[in-house]
Amino acid sequence: MTSEIAARYTRFAQVEAAGQSLIYERLALQVARSPRCLAFLSALPADRQQPNLLFAALRSVTGDIPCDDRLDRAIHEQGDDIAAVMLCRTTQTNEPGRCAVLLPVLAQITGPIALIEVGASAGLCLLPDYYGYDWEGYQLPPSQQIGVRAPVMICNASPGTPLPRAHPEIIWRAGLDLNPLDVNCEADVRWLEHLIWPEHQSRLDRLRAAIAVARKAPPSIVAGDLTQDLPALIAKAPSEATVVVFHTAVVTYVADQGQRDAFAEMMLNSGAIWISNEGTRVFPQFADRAGPVRDNMFLLTQNGHPLAWTGPHGQAIEWLPENR
Ligand SMILES: C[S@@+](CC[C@H](N)C(=O)[O-])C[C@H]1O[C@@H](n2cnc3c(N)ncnc32)[C@H](O)[C@@H]1O
Repeated sequence: MTSEIAARYTRFAQVEAAGQSLIYERLALQVARSPRCLAFLSALPADRQQPNLLFAALRSVTGDIPCDDRLDRAIHEQGDDIAAVMLCRTTQTNEPGRCAVLLPVLAQITGPIALIEVGASAGLCLLPDYYGYDWEGYQLPPSQQIGVRAPVMICNASPGTPLPRAHPEIIWRAGLDLNPLDVNCEADVRWLEHLIWPEHQSRLDRLRAAIAVARKAPPSIVAGDLTQDLPALIAKAPSEATVVVFHTAVVTYVADQGQRDAFAEMMLNSGAIWISNEGTRVFPQFADRAGPVRDNMFLLTQNGHPLAWTGPHGQAIEWLPENR
């Protein structure tokens, strides 16, 4: 059990944090070597042992990122408080930068669009038309002006990526989440901030800017489970709109592969356009069609058809050659 947790933290350090956050890379390796940390994590339910959850809880309880000998001390002295946060919170990182990899797909869909996000967190990815974009100097300003400074999503786009000339027309939008977060609740906003990796100041800045947008143009988000409650939400979409259902970094939290596959089957038979932006292990049946797997990237698919590899925080998009 502890050896599996150690392997998970080592993998996080070497695959997810490497090149992205030196602080989390070191912290994860330190957790993997610490018998005290591993014993602490093994006492938690399996779905509460994730590195991102532990690190955000450490920050929220200690007000700091305890490295070196301070890590074991924090677990020893404040372990109960850290565990309490890890039991009542989940990894709900809301990364509006992911809109930069979704927009090239959304903009190709004939509208008007009814946009539904499953696993919406605070709903920041439901507002792509309120943000500006910069794909390597190719810029698109927001199509909606609401009196606050819109964040600009910066993204590396490979040649051949169909960069949009205009925003899609979104006439209705709604989110679904096990636990919707509220951009007007200070505790929820602080938790979203703790989930941003420490060196990522520009991500923190754009999170704050996107929250300011969402406070002005709040998308509706209902509480529910994507494995059960989506058909009822799809039924509410206006009949004149093309229904588009998307998710990013969500289905990975559905632990059972059978449930993931049942969700994929439901989406393919739903009549909606289905956009998935997930890690490559989530739907191996689609990743297999995309060529050699890119372990540190997400796979963007439309109705199960691979379109692009994407940076997990929306920082890059590499359009697959066969889609050009
Ligand atoms: C890592 S966050 C991603 C949020 C957002 N999609 C983004 O990319 O910024 C994952 C979200 O999925 C939600 N989630 C996980 N499992 C879910 C389920 N079975 N049904 C609905 N939401 C779920 C979590 O509550 C969380 O808000």
